[in-house]
Amino acid sequence: MTTQVVQDFHQVVKERHSVRYYDPTVKISKAELEEILAEATLAPSSSNLQPWRFLVIDDQELKQKLHPIAYNQKQVLDASAVIAVFGDMEWFEKAEQIYTASVEAGYMTEEVKQQFVATANNGYRNMDDARKKSIVHIDGGLVSMQLMLAARARGYDTVPMGGFDGAKFKEAFEVPAHYENIMLIAIGKAAQPGRPTVRLPLSEITSWNAF
Ligand SMILES: Cc1cc2nc3c(=O)[nH]c(=O)nc-3n(C[C@H](O)[C@H](O)[C@H](O)COP(=O)(O)O)c2cc1C
Repeated sequence: MTTQVVQDFHQVVKERHSVRYYDPTVKISKAELEEILAEATLAPSSSNLQPWRFLVIDDQELKQKLHPIAYNQKQVLDASAVIAVFGDMEWFEKAEQIYTASVEAGYMTEEVKQQFVATANNGYRNMDDARKKSIVHIDGGLVSMQLMLAARARGYDTVPMGGFDGAKFKEAFEVPAHYENIMLIAIGKAAQPGRPTVRLPLSEITSWNAF
C-alpha cells in the first residue's frame, strides 16, 4: 500500500532534511519507489532528453558491498534503498525515441520532431566531454532534487551523498562506462530526524538586475 502523498508544497520543502539514521525495518515497496522515480523524472532536462539513469540498490548484501565504497556511511546499510543517479553521456541517442513518442502523443509535429532530432545529433553529439558532463550533471541534479521532494511528500526521508569512491563504485556495480556518477541518494524512514541546518541570508547571495 502506498502512503498518503502530502499536498502542501511548503511543508514538503521545509520538512526535507538530510537524514542519516534510518529505521532498518522499513522497506519501501518497489511499486512505491517506482512512483517516486516516475515523479522525479517529471523534472526538466536539456531539450527534454532526460539523461538521467538510476540503479536502485535495495538488496541488503549489495548495500553491504556498497557500504565501504561509500566510506562506511551508516545510512547505506539502514536506509530502505540507495538510489544511484547517473548521467548517460550518450543521452542524445534517445532523441529519436523521445521525440517520436511526442509526435505519437500529439505534442509535436513530425516536422518539428525532425528538427529536434537534427539539433540533438548536430549539437550534443559533437560537444566536448566537459560540456557533455556539465549538461548531465545539471539535469542529474534537478532529477535528484525532485526525487528527494517526491520522497518527502510521501513521508520518507533521504540524504544525497557525494561521499563515495566513484571509480570503485563503477567497478563494483559494473556501471556502464558512458554513465557519469551524479550522486547516491539513501531513502527510507527516519529513525532520528535530520540535524537542523542554516542558510545564508538572501541579501548576501542575491542581486537584483546588476551586481
Ligand atoms: C551533492 C551532495 C553531496 C552530499 N554528500 C553527502 C554525504 O556523502 N554524506 C552525508 O551525510 N551528507 C551529504 N550531503 C548532505 C549535505 O550535508 C546536506 O544537504 C547539507 O548539510 C544541508 O542539510 P539539509 O540537506 O538537511 O538541508 C550531500 C549533499 C549534496 C547536495
